Amino acid sequence: MTLNKHNPLSLKSWTLLEKKFEALAKKKIVDYFSEDANRTEKFSKQWESFYVDYSKNLLDEETLDLLVSMAEEAGLKQAITVYFGGAKINETENRAVLHTALRKLNNQPILVDEEDIGPKIEKLKNQMYDFADRVISGSWKGHSGKSIRHIVNIGIGGSDLGPVMVTEALEYYKNHLQITFVSNVEGDHVEEVIKTVDPETTLFVIVSKSFTTQETLSNANTLRKWFLKNAPESGIANHFVAVSTNQKKVTEFGIPEDNIFPMYDWVGGRFSLWSTVGISICLAVGPKHFDDLLLGAGKMDDHFQHTDFKDNIPVLLSLITVWYNNFWGVETEAIIPYSQYLKSLPAYLQQAIMESNGKGTDRNGDTIGYQTGNIIWGASGTNAQHAFFQLMHQGTKMIPADFIGFAKPLHSGNDHHDKLMSNFFAQTQALMQGKNAETVRGELKAEGKSEAQIERLLPFKVFEGNRPSNTLFIDQLSPRNLGSLIALYEHRIFVQGIVWNIFSYDQWGVELGKQLANNIYKDFDSGNIEHHDPSTQGLINHYKKFR
Ligand code: F6P
Repeated sequence: MTLNKHNPLSLKSWTLLEKKFEALAKKKIVDYFSEDANRTEKFSKQWESFYVDYSKNLLDEETLDLLVSMAEEAGLKQAITVYFGGAKINETENRAVLHTALRKLNNQPILVDEEDIGPKIEKLKNQMYDFADRVISGSWKGHSGKSIRHIVNIGIGGSDLGPVMVTEALEYYKNHLQITFVSNVEGDHVEEVIKTVDPETTLFVIVSKSFTTQETLSNANTLRKWFLKNAPESGIANHFVAVSTNQKKVTEFGIPEDNIFPMYDWVGGRFSLWSTVGISICLAVGPKHFDDLLLGAGKMDDHFQHTDFKDNIPVLLSLITVWYNNFWGVETEAIIPYSQYLKSLPAYLQQAIMESNGKGTDRNGDTIGYQTGNIIWGASGTNAQHAFFQLMHQGTKMIPADFIGFAKPLHSGNDHHDKLMSNFFAQTQALMQGKNAETVRGELKAEGKSEAQIERLLPFKVFEGNRPSNTLFIDQLSPRNLGSLIALYEHRIFVQGIVWNIFSYDQWGVELGKQLANNIYKDFDSGNIEHHDPSTQGLINHYKKFR
């Protein structure tokens, strides 16, 4: 079984949605509210600790029905079964996509190449939990007999962004271990890390699915060299562990077998934080909280798998993105978490969404004639309000946005949360309602401005409004709720990939740059650069003056 192939432009509902767009294009979000007193109830969902309000969007019930029909026509139901069932839906790499198996809430077997992967998952999880317990309790010792105090995670892309984002998000739940991430190949990055580490009490965790990634291997080698200047060779066993599918390469690097945490090729890099790749998370917050993270994701998986599309939060939000992307011609989507703990969520989702759905070839191998993956960006509110919100409110582009907030803060005893929440609510209200000329005129009059001053200032102070947003309002930031939130976005990616008829789980687009960088790197010393284009030759020659 595998994913079906279709052309979204040939779906009946696609054509109906085009017509729907023409009919609704001039309508304002506020009009939908004045026409229907029950819009908020109809366009919101309560699921577990999540209250999701998608009423501030440019659509009516019929549009949503059509979007759901489009998902059905695209074969989403069958695709979900295929996805969770372990079929090799990453066809171009001949791999299953089973990050969901890592947080499965039932014992039903999942077969990959005719083998049930359940026992493997349990074994690896226990290996990781046992290791984390030993490091956290201090019973895992460094080479001189001291306990570990500092973890350095060496990885990039999916082997970095997920662990970084979750470790930051769960800062409140953290233990005494200090966690540092080094990802960039830039020598200055690793040198700054070296300044902070103690060879007696630091544990280096090398995370690389392939164990061939230039950035990770360079940083790991530099850190190992530094370590061996300050500790005996035998200390490697106390201070270096690795997560990888490539045991051979890890062993060649010099890491003992007992320090290897395997992972499997059915977990994609950008969806791997649930696997042994999440080891730094597990070290930072302990196995109990890591388990809660998995539980939250598992609950969202269940919701996604078994809920009618009309009530299915990932499906609905995903289809709303398709509505803007493909019918309104909108290019970007902002993610604004009203929590400093989630400041890295936009960067994490950039990789998850853009590496997955930034594709121009469909599942038939044909060039695509419609829009696919949108551009994801964002920052934490309220910081974002003081940075790019000007453009969101008064710029010439429509930017649908997800506002993510938490009803209860983690620390109580101050009045900050009401202020934060008032901003959280005010921004989506302002984006939708705007401010008309009449209101602006009244305000300027009240300020005592003259008629001439009012006329001059008026156009600059008007907000046209009508800018859409979703609000994901969650009770509190807990490991479990975070797990659900991440899984929600993962499933949105899947739904969009199905509708757009693309393969969401490969990433061939990152290969060319890597390949050319390797060639150029060699050419710095070979001196033979004539085969490069003139601009690149100029850049290499300029660089050579500084080498
Ligand atoms: O950037 C491409 C990529 O393959 C990502 O998909 C992946 O997360 C990252 O590189 C790191 O790869 P690895 O874990 O194999 O070092």
